[in-house]
Amino acid sequence: MNINKESTILITCSPGLVECLQTEVEALGYKTFNPHKAGLEIKGTIVDCMKLNLNLRTAFNVLYLFKEFQSKNPDQLYRYLVSLNWADVISEDEYFTVVSRADNPSVKHTMFPSMKVKDAIVDSIAKVKGKRPDSGSERNNVVLNFYWKDKNCWIYINTSGNKLADRGYRKMPHAAPMQETLAAGVLLTAGYDGSMPLVCPMCGSGTLAIEAALISINKSAGLLRSNYGFAHLKDFDKALWQKMRKDALKAAKKTLAFPIIATDIDEQAIVAAKQNAKTAGVDHLIEFAVCDFAETKIPQAPGIILLNPEYGRRLGDTTELEETYKRMGDFFKQKCAGYAAHIFTGNMNLAKKIGLRTSRKTPFFNGTIECRLLKYDIYEGSKK
Ligand SMILES: C[S@@+](CC[C@H](N)C(=O)[O-])C[C@H]1O[C@@H](n2cnc3c(N)ncnc32)[C@H](O)[C@@H]1O
Repeated sequence: MNINKESTILITCSPGLVECLQTEVEALGYKTFNPHKAGLEIKGTIVDCMKLNLNLRTAFNVLYLFKEFQSKNPDQLYRYLVSLNWADVISEDEYFTVVSRADNPSVKHTMFPSMKVKDAIVDSIAKVKGKRPDSGSERNNVVLNFYWKDKNCWIYINTSGNKLADRGYRKMPHAAPMQETLAAGVLLTAGYDGSMPLVCPMCGSGTLAIEAALISINKSAGLLRSNYGFAHLKDFDKALWQKMRKDALKAAKKTLAFPIIATDIDEQAIVAAKQNAKTAGVDHLIEFAVCDFAETKIPQAPGIILLNPEYGRRLGDTTELEETYKRMGDFFKQKCAGYAAHIFTGNMNLAKKIGLRTSRKTPFFNGTIECRLLKYDIYEGSKK
């Protein structure tokens, strides 16, 4: 297949992250269009998809539009897809999977569209090559996303394969970890770019601190992963991919300009965070400590402090948490002067206990839970 052919690229993200994603995509030099709740579009090639997979921190999947067409029912769908030259896209020795979402009256069973698409692709390849590729539900090889709404159909090559949130470093998840893409989005929204200290008390498995270290040294998140959907396509340009990775490695700095401090009251959380940071190759860049959040060392201002406390839905008892949230407000006032203080929480009632006025509230989703990143400007002395 021609990896330099331009098409629409749909970049998906979790709800709440689209503004961060847009900033990231535009910083890479692309013009974005059609931003919606969970994604946006650009124009580009498979080579652009490789670059996006390597560099984006807040994206879920990078989907290259292969065909847009119309189909009223499964028979029409099969007839159209079997007529395409799939042998040019997927080797007969490959394995592929189809992920589908359908909203069409002829679809009674959710698995049916995926099966129909798979059958058409396998038959099309077998006709040309005399051999049928394997297919199933694993997402480690070629992945196709099929969407069917009324009679409109879109089939995308999912160039990411597994979602980009799975960076591969979180071998020890600990309790209620934040998704890696969400952690990156929260940091970017807090304005973190490595140009001032970052303090992460309540670090849990270390996701925020690890993502911060990657941002600070300009290390592409995609360098942490070796497998992508695009690498299984026919005509994958391995030499070009290796050059992209080499250039990204060269662009990464070795040291931090300002410290990153990560603490947690639970010793096991720090064991997990250290191990995860090691897997991500950034353990030497983060200062870890076991302590109550209020005992965390605060470097000289200005800086950013970011806490992700439990919020009583999945973990923690609400009455005890009320006291913790109140203590967080006191801690900000007493020890964090000159800092931009942030709390990421899914419980606005608990947030009221902080007792400080927010300067910004940014909505996010942690899975299905609606959350807010609350910002408090803690002034040195009294606010004029
Ligand atoms: C929601 S989890 C943080 C998850 C983290 N963002 C991650 O990605 O793994 C909250 C963390 O706060 C810690 N914690 C609770 N009370 C604390 C306290 N008083 N001082 C410090 N850490 C505390 C818990 O041990 C837990 O690891």
